[in-house]
Amino acid sequence: MADVKQKDPIQGDILHEYDGILEADNLLPRWWLATFYGTIVFSGFYWFYYEAFDIGKSPAEQYAAWLEEESKKNIAVTDEMLIALPSDSTRVEKGRAVFSANCAACHGREGEGNIGPNLTDNAWLHGGRARDIYRTISEGVVTAGMPPWGQTLGQQGVLDVTAFVLSIRNTNKPGKPPQGQIVDDQDNPITPSGSSTEGEQHSSGADKTNDKTDSNHG
Ligand code: HEC
Repeated sequence: MADVKQKDPIQGDILHEYDGILEADNLLPRWWLATFYGTIVFSGFYWFYYEAFDIGKSPAEQYAAWLEEESKKNIAVTDEMLIALPSDSTRVEKGRAVFSANCAACHGREGEGNIGPNLTDNAWLHGGRARDIYRTISEGVVTAGMPPWGQTLGQQGVLDVTAFVLSIRNTNKPGKPPQGQIVDDQDNPITPSGSSTEGEQHSSGADKTNDKTDSNHG
């Protein structure tokens, strides 16, 4: 092997020859070796930093941390604030856009119902008070095909779309027949949702003119 058979002007001493292929055994260029050993050193640091001591965070961990940070920014939602939502016309308009993009496929363009229930009647499966509706939208009813929107839309997005849903509540758009319990006095906090016995009586018929009073329905 080591016996020099011939010399090549570029490669120098040729050590092997196979079928006319000449092979020398020269030292690797310094820059190449430096890069090569550099990667080995780097992989050591990398391993200690991300694996052994878990100092660096993986993208999934960074994302989880970011989500937690974001959720801390969430403001405390009070009943008063939720009840006031439909009179905030800016919110209702933003909510309308959110609704068209995310909800209309299942609940109809006007909220009249499709796969999901009619949101414009006074019958509710999961409670008809502002707080119930906010919760249903935020947490969803996963087993029944209603996605949770809290993380997808963020708290502000959920508040916007809640404002819109509250603004179309009791507008009785012809569509899917009422499902669930009739909730008459929807935002009277004393009335447990779904079991109201007093308060203003809303017609459950879809042909009656709508009697909503305060919603800002631009
Ligand atoms: C994939 C279809 C789908 C999408 C998209 C969807 N929903 Fe629903 N939603 C449903 C279904 C189905 C139900 C009924 C759940 C049940 O039967 O318990 C429901 C229930 C609801 C309820 C409760 C109704 C009640 O009677 O208590 C509200 C409020 C609601 N959705 C709002 C929204 C909003 C707002 C969006 C958009 C951000 C949205 N939904 C997007 C399918 C959907």
